[in-house]
Amino acid sequence: MNRNVSYQSVFFIISTYISACLAAADTSGHAGEAVTSRYWDCCKPSCGWNEKAHFTSPIPSCNARDNILTDFYAGTACNGGSAYACTNQSPWSVNETFSYGFAGAYIQKHVEDYWCCACYHLKFKNGPAEGKEMIVQAHNTAYDVTTSNRFILAVPGGNTSYAGACAKQFDVPETVFGQPWEGVSDLEDCDNLPKPLRDGCRWRFDWFQNADYLDVDYKRVTCPTELTNITQCIRDDDQTFTSAAFSLRDYSPFQRCMFGVIVASLVMFLS
Ligand SMILES: *[C@@H]1O[C@H](CO)[C@@H](O)[C@H](O)[C@H]1NC(C)=O
Ligand SMILES: *[C@@H]1O[C@H](CO)[C@@H](O)[C@H](O)[C@H]1NC(C)=O
Ligand SMILES: *[C@@H]1O[C@H](CO)[C@@H](O)[C@H](O)[C@H]1NC(C)=O
Repeated sequence: MNRNVSYQSVFFIISTYISACLAAADTSGHAGEAVTSRYWDCCKPSCGWNEKAHFTSPIPSCNARDNILTDFYAGTACNGGSAYACTNQSPWSVNETFSYGFAGAYIQKHVEDYWCCACYHLKFKNGPAEGKEMIVQAHNTAYDVTTSNRFILAVPGGNTSYAGACAKQFDVPETVFGQPWEGVSDLEDCDNLPKPLRDGCRWRFDWFQNADYLDVDYKRVTCPTELTNITQCIRDDDQTFTSAAFSLRDYSPFQRCMFGVIVASLVMFLS
């Protein structure tokens, strides 16, 4: 056997094992698998309050005329207040395979100070958008289902608003936002939405191929200025979180995995 080839493949196999171990040990929540769904309820996003996380400033909310509110204590229009979602927290595509957007997040074993204004790189794993990727900033929280990690993508007209806030914000009938749990049903229906929501609505039928409930692999990334220029929300740990991604407290899956590497390497070297 050619010695060089043999050493190369041993090196390759061992490094693959070690990366797999590191991935298995990252139980911090900065990377993993998640499910997705859609929403656009016109409510003030949950990360729009001052004390939700350590960040430069909360996610902006808007008044009914879509102007940014300076008062981060303004109550949500979904509960009698005057603060609505700003329409520019809508998704847009950069090219056939990559988009930016916003999402409500839920990451198991954590609460919202963990994800508010963090950015996540999502890779869609199935369905019509399989293989496409997105970077989203978490502007909201998705506590309603906690059986898995979850990103609820903010897509105008992508789901109905449970509190009727969209109808109130734009002074239109609730029916223009489509069916309960579904939102509008085709591209043409986007034309009936209030003007600032139309492009984000079309994104769903065009780039996203009208997908729903796709699975993703996700990982936290430093927020791109494309997103923070819209929200002005940057977390204090936005540059430093990677150092926390591998926590020594979580060493036991890594140890178990490394034990496998040592055994596998011994077997390879001895054979
Ligand atoms: C719409 O929102 C409801 C309530 O959160 C959710 O159960 C449903 O799955 C959503 N629909 C889609 C298509 O994401
Ligand atoms: C799409 O845009 C992303 C982000 O700018 C870039 O990384 C990627 O290479 C682009 N892909 C194509 C096929 O142009
Ligand atoms: C973000 O804003 C800064 C300052 O206005 C600007 O220099 C930069 O080009 C913007 N980035 C993007 C991606 O829009």
